Amino acid sequence: MRKVLIIFAHPALERSRVNRALIEAAAGVEGVRVHDLYQAYPDFDIDVPFEQRLLEAHGVVVLQHPFFWYSAPAILKQWQDLVLEHGWAYGHAGTALKGKWTLNAITAGGGEDSYRREGGNRFEIGELLAPFEATARLCGMIWLPPFVVHGTHRLGDAEIDAHAGDYRRLLIGLRDGAVDAAAARRWPRLNMDLAAVLGG
Ligand SMILES: Cc1cc2nc3c(=O)[nH]c(=O)nc-3n(C[C@H](O)[C@H](O)[C@H](O)COP(=O)(O)O)c2cc1C
Repeated sequence: MRKVLIIFAHPALERSRVNRALIEAAAGVEGVRVHDLYQAYPDFDIDVPFEQRLLEAHGVVVLQHPFFWYSAPAILKQWQDLVLEHGWAYGHAGTALKGKWTLNAITAGGGEDSYRREGGNRFEIGELLAPFEATARLCGMIWLPPFVVHGTHRLGDAEIDAHAGDYRRLLIGLRDGAVDAAAARRWPRLNMDLAAVLGG
């Protein structure tokens, strides 16, 4: 069993529909720990040793957040800037994260069609996540395509519930070693064909 850590960043959880449902679906899963950065650090005063110990204790690191300006809410950047230290996360002696799996779990207001070359957002989500992928690779982590919920503003409750169920299944699959990382990279997002990603 691989322990799964969700590093969660949403600055206004009380107004969230989709992330709230995803987090609630994840919270009860054995072997999955949800760590809410805005709740833990309302002043952005991140406890670096605590965060590093938390990462060391888990095999899968999920960065869950709404897509904000084609990236993540600010606290996640602050977390990266402070926690991913030279000599710990990267550099000659920095091997603490080596071999751990990582992915982004994101919600986006824009529909999937808008994230195409000819669409309103011009770039694909995977391209826009390049800084996260490059960071993971620098730290020797195994990068997976994201779990993405598109078109959040148009989703009804039943659709949100379905996405939450998919997220729960993915987390259980990651925990239980049911995901083949190389095969999963065939999809631009893991929930495009979750059954295949989870080994049929
Ligand atoms: C400051 C801000 C920036 C946003 N930037 C984007 C964006 O770049 N692309 C996008 O598709 N949606 C964007 N959105 C929409 C959010 O992604 C969307 O509201 C969120 O994923 C909904 O999830 P929630 O119900 O958990 O809040 C943005 C929203 C806010 C408030």
